[in-house]
Amino acid sequence: MVTLEINGTSKQFDVPNEMPILWALRDIAQLTGTKFGCGMALCGACTIHLDNEPVRACVTPVSAAVGKKITTVEHIEHDAVGSAVQKAWLDLGVAQCGYCQAGQVMAATALLKTTPNPSDEDIDEAMSGNICRCGTYPRIRAAIKQAASGVKSAESKQGAKS
Ligand code: FES
Ligand code: FES
Repeated sequence: MVTLEINGTSKQFDVPNEMPILWALRDIAQLTGTKFGCGMALCGACTIHLDNEPVRACVTPVSAAVGKKITTVEHIEHDAVGSAVQKAWLDLGVAQCGYCQAGQVMAATALLKTTPNPSDEDIDEAMSGNICRCGTYPRIRAAIKQAASGVKSAESKQGAKS
């Protein structure tokens, strides 16, 4: 039995320690927003956050998540940065087929948490492991920049109120 904290709720899972988190999320917790692409940490479709760090759920065992907070795309709107990223994605119509986009949103959110004002190079480096077969890369880059300004303006409004 393994206890996992997923999106703010702790639950016990009767799974082997070495089971990839992706299967616990999709097959047991029924959180199917996180996608399976390559299964080998090569495409980024399965990106989730473990304590705010982006990780590939297809190759990360559940044992690595014990005592940490798992966040999936289903919960990212509750994060100020994640919500700005989702808004920018919608505003700019980033998704095409959509398959890679949950992973893209999670990777972009993790980037903006550590680098609030990323350069093109920062974006390329952080997002290079997230593959999009539809080639939405220019819109992804634009959306990350829009989200960065969205977070900044939300923070300055907050500062003005306090
Ligand atoms: S499915 Fe995990 S990186 Fe491709
Ligand atoms: S939107 Fe189709 S794979 Fe990225």
